[in-house]
Parts: sequence; structure tokens; C-alpha cells
Amino acid sequence: MSGSARDGRVKVFIETYGCQMNSYDTSVMYGILDEHGYARAETVDDADVVLLNTCSVRDLAEHKIHSRVGELRSLNRRGLSKTAVVGVTGCMAERMADDLAKGERKADLVLGVDQYAKLPGMLDLAVARVRGDKDGPKQLNVATGHQADVHYVAPPDAYPTNNSHLVTIHKGCDYKCTYCIVPATRGPQREKAPEVIEQEIRDIVAAGGREVTLLGQNVTAYRAPGLNFAGLLQRLNPIVGLERIRFLTGHPCDMNEELVKTMSGLDKVCPWLHVPAQSGSDRVLRRMKRHYTAAEYLGLVATARRWLPGVTFSGDFIVGFPGETDEDFRMTLELVREVRYDQTFNFKYSERPATPAAKLDDDVPLEVKKERLAELMALQENVWSSMASAAVGEVWDVAVEDEARRPAGAWRARSLHNRKVLLLDHEGFVGQTLSVRITGCEATTFFGVAV
Ligand code: 5AD
Ligand code: SF4
Repeated sequence: MSGSARDGRVKVFIETYGCQMNSYDTSVMYGILDEHGYARAETVDDADVVLLNTCSVRDLAEHKIHSRVGELRSLNRRGLSKTAVVGVTGCMAERMADDLAKGERKADLVLGVDQYAKLPGMLDLAVARVRGDKDGPKQLNVATGHQADVHYVAPPDAYPTNNSHLVTIHKGCDYKCTYCIVPATRGPQREKAPEVIEQEIRDIVAAGGREVTLLGQNVTAYRAPGLNFAGLLQRLNPIVGLERIRFLTGHPCDMNEELVKTMSGLDKVCPWLHVPAQSGSDRVLRRMKRHYTAAEYLGLVATARRWLPGVTFSGDFIVGFPGETDEDFRMTLELVREVRYDQTFNFKYSERPATPAAKLDDDVPLEVKKERLAELMALQENVWSSMASAAVGEVWDVAVEDEARRPAGAWRARSLHNRKVLLLDHEGFVGQTLSVRITGCEATTFFGVAV
């Protein structure tokens, strides 16, 4: 294989698709590879090996991966790239190992979400194969299947997202929302032990980190012996040197008063809740098996606002779920109007194989799904612009994340309630905390001056 690192190490680049759990897993893999003598490529063009860390949540994401494998293969075949080894990891590997390990667009290795420890061994074999080592074993390019007790810990990330280090606190999901493929790809919910999480955060702080984002499909359902999620927050809050704790994703069913009340007493836990509603229609929610009504969801939002003044919300919505009528969709719009989210992530329903909803007729035409999606996004933009103008003049506590690329002399910061603030003409440094007065807003970025 040509083009290895100058020190002779093979260079690996991981392309991450999907959610933040995947970003965390990518750091886990880089950590494992580093321990086993592989180097991290700075860019995909500089990589001997490219791993695609994939997502199965929607059909489109999977299509993208198939064509990306084909593209990487073709570039290498035509001598236009040095990437001789292509691997597929993560959710999609778990779901379609057989398809990925054969055919024209075959990957050299396919590795599921609980199998990252096998990565170096599998890469050694794949690299040997590419180098024409005829004596090496010929097979072992697929490792999948769930392992209850396997929990990986990523080394503190040198370049954390939003200056916040991701910490996965559990894996899998025990809810069985009918549209969702996650229980199949990531398996049942399994907790990382509280002492492991605590140590992971202490190591992050020792490496200079000040903020963590606790991650899981349903962090609010965390349940170690004698400890629920509220208890975990209480346990983590006192860690010396840690300044901010965020978390996602929450499920409305376990985002209860006990949790928001606990949050209100913990100085490091940021007042921002990512709690997907998915729909505002009880009929649709029932068929999604979400186990709450729109009124209950709104009740939860009201309770959170009572205990956490200034709390902000973000959420996910699916439009065009099987059987969704125009009236159902109007109820979703109504809910979005009432909650006043900072941000919503909106998706067209995408049928996923072997999920309970796949048995329902995917009867909302694509055109209608597109129209509903556009209407929902337009409404959210409207709601947001009135919220954003109302915020001008307020004073917020922010943490500085990095220097802005433009304009010169500006720094990017994030408020405790998770809003982006650009500090113009500011003498800042990464991690600096300060109070700022909001002077304006453009899209989702506010402008602020130190007070
Ligand atoms: N189709 C469309 N969106 C989906 N999501 C999950 N499964 C599907 C699906 N089959 C969305 C949900 C979830 C987010 C991560 O992805 O809104 O909260
Ligand atoms: Fe999927 Fe529902 Fe679990 Fe979220 S809570 S991961 S949507 S099954």
C-alpha cells in the first residue's frame, strides 16, 4: 500500500454519518486504532483506509453509503486515490452485513456497533490482503452481533464538537417506536456503569475539557442499580473542574417532574432539553407507540418551564407517517406553535425493513410528505424569528467555543441554554465564560457584547 504515514503507519480516515452516538463511536475507533499502531489521516484524500461509520435510521442514509463505497472503490481502481481499503461500521453494518460483504461494491470489512475491539485485527488482515500477502488468512471481514456487556470508552477528543466532549452513557433502546430501526441495529438498552462514566468525565477534565454532553438513544431512561438519570446527574454534578453538563436525547415518558426538579438544583446542568415529540396527533402517536398524548407532552413542557426558567427545547418530527391525515398534520403544526422550540429536526417518514410500521401501508404520497415537511419548516422558521427578536436585549451566560472564521476578531460562543452567539471584536479564548448582552440575530446565530 503506497502513501502510508511518514513513520510507516497506515493512515485511516473515518467518515461519520448519522447521530452523535456515531461521532462518539468514531472517537472510540480512532482511540483503538491509535493504540494498535495506525495513524489518523487528516483528510479523506490522505487515507490508505476509509471507514464509513453509518446510520440506518432513514432509507436515504443507507443509499448514500452504498454509492459512497462504490465511489471510493472506483477512485482507487482508476488510480485517483490511494484508499485501497474501505470498511463499513456502525448501524448499517449490523443490519446488512451480507449485502455489504459481497458484490461489485463490496467493503473489505464490515463491523457492527459492539465489535470495535476487532477493528485492528480485521484491518491488519485487510491491509495484508491488499498488499498481496498470499499466506495470510483469507477470510474474516465481517463481525456483527450484540454483546450485552461491551461498552467502549473514547479517549478525550482533541477537537470536541461545540467544545463539548461526548460521553455515551448507555447503548440501545427498549422503547419500540414502530417506525424505528434503532432497537434492531443497536439492540436492547444497556447501561455503562456510573463509575465508568464518572471516570471517563474525570479523564476529560484532566485533559482540559470543561463541558460534556451525555449521549444515548434515551438518556432519560438511564437505570443502573439504585440510580436513575436524575441520580446520575446528581452524581456527576460535583466533579471538580467540570463546568457544564448537557444531554440528549430525552423521551417524553421519562422526562418527568423529578428530573426537571433535580436539574433545577444542579448548577452545571444546562437548561436545554432535546425531547422529540414526533407528532402532535394522538392517533398518530398511538400508532407510533410513543406512549404519550400531545396534551401530556405539553404538560411536560410546562412543568419543565416552571422548574427551569429560560429552558429551551428542541425536538424531532416525522411527517407522513402511515395513515397521517391532513387533520393529524395540523395538530403537529399546532403543537409546534405552542411549544415554541428553538429548533426542530423534521423528517419525511421512511419505511424501514422489519419495523412494526413496515406492516402498515405507507400511504401518504411523497409529494404530500414533501409539502408537509416544507410547511412544518416554514412554521418553525416563523416561530423562531419572533422568539429570536424577543431575545434582543437579554443578558445570557455563554461559554466561548472558538474563533470565528468571519468576521476577523469575532469569537463563537454558546449560551447555557444552547443558543449560538457571535461575539464581535472580542478578546476571547476557548472555554472563556462570560455574560453577554444580545444585540441582534441572524437565522439561528445571535450577536452579543460582553457586559
Ligand atoms: N422515518 C423518518 N424519520 C425517522 N426517525 C426515526 N426513524 C425514522 C423513520 N423511519 C427520526 C425520528 C428520530 C430521529 C433521530 O429520526 O424523528 O427522533
Ligand atoms: Fe427509536 Fe423510539 Fe428508541 Fe428513539 S425511543 S431510538 S425513536 S425506538
